[in-house]
Amino acid sequence: MGQPTPARTATRTRATDRDWWRDAVIYQVYVRSFADGDGDGTGDLAGVRSRLPYLAQLGVDALWFNPWYPSPMKDGGYDVADYRGIDPAFGTLAEAEKLIAEARELGIRTIVDIVPNHVSDRHPWFRAAVAAGPGSPERELFHFRPGRGAHGELPPNDWPSQFVGSTEPVWTRLPDGEWYLHLFTPEQPDLNWAHPVVRQEHEDILRFWFERGVAGVRIDSAALLAKDPALPDLAAGPDPHPFVDRDELHDVYRAWRRVADAYDGVFVGEVWLPDPERFARYLRPDELHTAFNFSFLSCPWDAGRLRGSIDSTLAEHAPVGAPATWVLCNHDVTRTVTRYGRADTGFDFATKAFGTPADLALGTRRARAAALLSLALPGAVYLYQGEELGLPEADVPVDRLHDPMYFRSGGADPGRDGCRVPLPWTADAPHAGFGSGEEPWLPQPVGWGAYAVDRQQHDADSLLTLYRRAIAARPAFGTGPLTWLPAPEGVLAFTRGRDESRTDAICVLNLAATPTELPPHTGLLLTSGPLDDTGRLPRDTAAWLTP
Ligand code: GLC
Repeated sequence: MGQPTPARTATRTRATDRDWWRDAVIYQVYVRSFADGDGDGTGDLAGVRSRLPYLAQLGVDALWFNPWYPSPMKDGGYDVADYRGIDPAFGTLAEAEKLIAEARELGIRTIVDIVPNHVSDRHPWFRAAVAAGPGSPERELFHFRPGRGAHGELPPNDWPSQFVGSTEPVWTRLPDGEWYLHLFTPEQPDLNWAHPVVRQEHEDILRFWFERGVAGVRIDSAALLAKDPALPDLAAGPDPHPFVDRDELHDVYRAWRRVADAYDGVFVGEVWLPDPERFARYLRPDELHTAFNFSFLSCPWDAGRLRGSIDSTLAEHAPVGAPATWVLCNHDVTRTVTRYGRADTGFDFATKAFGTPADLALGTRRARAAALLSLALPGAVYLYQGEELGLPEADVPVDRLHDPMYFRSGGADPGRDGCRVPLPWTADAPHAGFGSGEEPWLPQPVGWGAYAVDRQQHDADSLLTLYRRAIAARPAFGTGPLTWLPAPEGVLAFTRGRDESRTDAICVLNLAATPTELPPHTGLLLTSGPLDDTGRLPRDTAAWLTP
């Protein structure tokens, strides 16, 4: 800490390079909660545009926007009614085009979020399918089936909801007697990916956004699209799985890749799969460029587990030549400082509960160290808005919750609103500077202003300053591979360089109970917290060194 911020020429140069995505820092913008430009309590594109200088100063290479399309918002915009527009609460298509261009002027690329597994029940295709009735070609774009039981009163199969913890069925019956499939909420009917029109439409949607200057696409629920046409019961143990990770999907993504290649566009897939070999198949050279690393995101704060996650990540990506991604948090999971401050520092949808205690000072210390760890690893890093401010998971009063995960679990699961609370920009302004008008759509907890950007931006010891310095200093690690250094139990230490033959920087992270000596070095680039009086690295602290 306390070092001057190095010039950030290296990353700026890289932003003009076709391979920018291989080691980019990508900032996730949850538009609804980022900045409210028009004062209606909901974040919007005007808010994002006004904060572009902030994002440029942070030093990020790209922005990933959660779905910004017209949507009834039954699942935070993951229920899309029109893939070629912007929700009026957020702005207009013309404004999105301006935003994409203005960001690019600042060296920042744009990634949009495409939701191919399902549409909103307000999407014209689904409305037409409902209206057209059983047996119609309109229904073939979805999964409509008669029910089971003497009167068709039972759902067509036993598939579980993809909202972990949900007790609700994945089938809904229409008044005409047919049932339709929705792996998430009833307002998100699943598309039939065996239908050529569905495939054609999504390739056109990709072109639509690439034509507007976006550099990449995040693919929502990327491993769920293809379904066994027989829709067999899961209890029957069919192999392959009837709706997760089916082989037909790879053909879909090969076709998408051909579209993207015409624009130098890149993909990042939301692929939650426990089997690393199956995961890596999505990253073959003619498929997706990258996918989120949920093993790292779920990993407990433990040296052995973290090293295992890093090693297996690198090992699974190497054969397909795809870069790894490093993710600590997103709009679906518990915020990093809260997770690292709990007794169980891993993340698992199944164990989320109200009232889990967290030591936020401890969690913040670890989150600072984790920032230096992720930014030193080879690959791309994702940063979820507010992570750079050290925002904790907020306790949103139950009568203000929006997330269907809460409602569909019968109130057992707190849902995901706690990580989606509007950002604090100015400590002493109304709504902590999120917007100057209406109450934010989700309430900000008392004391939220303490995390505000204006409190942190000139504070040499703030997490925001650490992120800025680390992003600026990150090119010191080069683009070469990682080599582990010998280190005491509980300590992780590795080097990287511009290429395999060089060591340009060292990262050390101490997860052991006692302070540790730093490895031999000539300079200290950055630390996540102060060294002790004898120059040792304390517990839950990381350092970047020059050899
Ligand atoms: C993904 C999104 C999540 C959404 C779900 C259904 O997991 O990240 O927010 O609820 O897909 O679209």
